[in-house]
Amino acid sequence: MQIELAVVLAAGEGTRMRSGTAKVLHKVCGQTMLHHVVQSISAINPKSLKIVVGAHKESVEAHIKEIAPSAKTVFQKVRNGTGHATELALANESNAGSVLIMAGDIPLITGMTLVELFEVHQRSKSAATILTATVPDPTGYGRILRDEKGKITHIVEEKEADSATKAIDEINSGIYIFALGKLIEVIGKLERNNSQNELYLTDVIEHLVAANEPVSSYNIPDYVEILGVNDRAKLADCAAIMRDRINEQHMFNGVSIIDPTTTWIDRSVELSKDVTIFPGSALQGNTKVSENCVIGPRTTLVDCNVQAGAQIIESYAIESNIGENANVGPFSYLRSNTQLAANTKVGAYVEVKNSKIGADSKVPHLSYIGDAQIGTGTNIGAATVIVNFDGENKHETKIGNHVRVGSDSMLVAPVNIGDGAYTAAGSVVTEDVPAGALAVARGKQSNILGWVLRKRKGSKSAEAAKSAGASEK
Ligand code: UD1
Ligand code: MG
Repeated sequence: MQIELAVVLAAGEGTRMRSGTAKVLHKVCGQTMLHHVVQSISAINPKSLKIVVGAHKESVEAHIKEIAPSAKTVFQKVRNGTGHATELALANESNAGSVLIMAGDIPLITGMTLVELFEVHQRSKSAATILTATVPDPTGYGRILRDEKGKITHIVEEKEADSATKAIDEINSGIYIFALGKLIEVIGKLERNNSQNELYLTDVIEHLVAANEPVSSYNIPDYVEILGVNDRAKLADCAAIMRDRINEQHMFNGVSIIDPTTTWIDRSVELSKDVTIFPGSALQGNTKVSENCVIGPRTTLVDCNVQAGAQIIESYAIESNIGENANVGPFSYLRSNTQLAANTKVGAYVEVKNSKIGADSKVPHLSYIGDAQIGTGTNIGAATVIVNFDGENKHETKIGNHVRVGSDSMLVAPVNIGDGAYTAAGSVVTEDVPAGALAVARGKQSNILGWVLRKRKGSKSAEAAKSAGASEK
């Protein structure tokens, strides 16, 4: 199935969004509305795709380069309406084939619906096929007017509608397929004789009908697909519908989502079967999660790769690779380029950045690991900090296999700790530790006997010491 041309109208101001960002660049489940629309359009495989831009031209064009590099942009300098935008997009087009025209602010439209619309259009050999919907509240939409035989005669915009017309609940979705030649014939006939002083694309319908051209429609069974976003409340409504749709798909594919209303998964995320996701979690970007992983509660993964059987609780991870059966959290923070090998543990209040932690190694409590390579089977004691920043530059740390770093060690980079070495708790390690050595780098302890009894006379501590048999000397 291939259509000659698809045109996305995206030049509007989006005033009601009250935003410094173009409306079509606002995101729904991690992806811009324009990206959703372009992705759905790909189902009808257009030979060429044109996107009409105007407001926020630079940022919209830059985004188009990323999501649809082969699309052509058409600049609509003055927004004279949907008819005008379409006319600009049709310049230099030949008469053969069909064209899909739709707005860029309809993020829930599916590729399947566009395929069905195209099929209706081809079967009926119409000059125009309108995607319509019967909705509970038609306010704001153009209404579909039909004659006594049920044939479409024209479309009336809300602003032009009398009360009888306003009562019609079949609306224009703003998505159409036209025979290119027929649309080119009538597009020049539009006039601005309406309340907005604009060229309405919808007016081409009565011109086609007047020329005895066949006009048909496809009434969409699930009207939510055509919901348009005009303000942030509608953006949130559409995001919730998209969230449910994505979650449902994963659940049908074997993912357990304990609370789908608080689980937000981007369209781009891949999940394998028997993954379990607990409430309050967000999986974003190019995140991939393999079989039997447990994610959440309250865990955010951005562009992460999680291998089979890993468990991540109450944590935030970005651009990280989490190995097979790794155990992360609660309250861990994995920053860019964290590489956790199989069976690793990163425990509570541990931050890791640009570091590799080898298989079976553990960083269980209260630590910072930055710019470090850790071997296999190594244990990093509680509250260890890799001192990677000297105030101006970052330095690297290497820790070998089966190392035991004592609690509260400060490993001052650059530093190497050899295989099987130990560091004493509370050490500030500034020099390399050879394989198998114990590094002790702290003041030697001295006990000043009787000090509390002499200097804190009468205190509870002094009394306790006295009861334990301590004396002043
Ligand atoms: C339009 C339809 C209406 C339909 C509704 C569905 C017309 C006249 N009306 O109304 O029948 O029910 O969509 O959502 O077409 N745009 C441009 N250039 C312009 C004006 C608009 O590119 O000069 C773009 C906008 O960015 C937007 C789309 O066209 O993406 C639709 O424009 P909008 O002003 O939102 O039309 P509606 O009033 O919603
Ligand atoms: Mg609109």
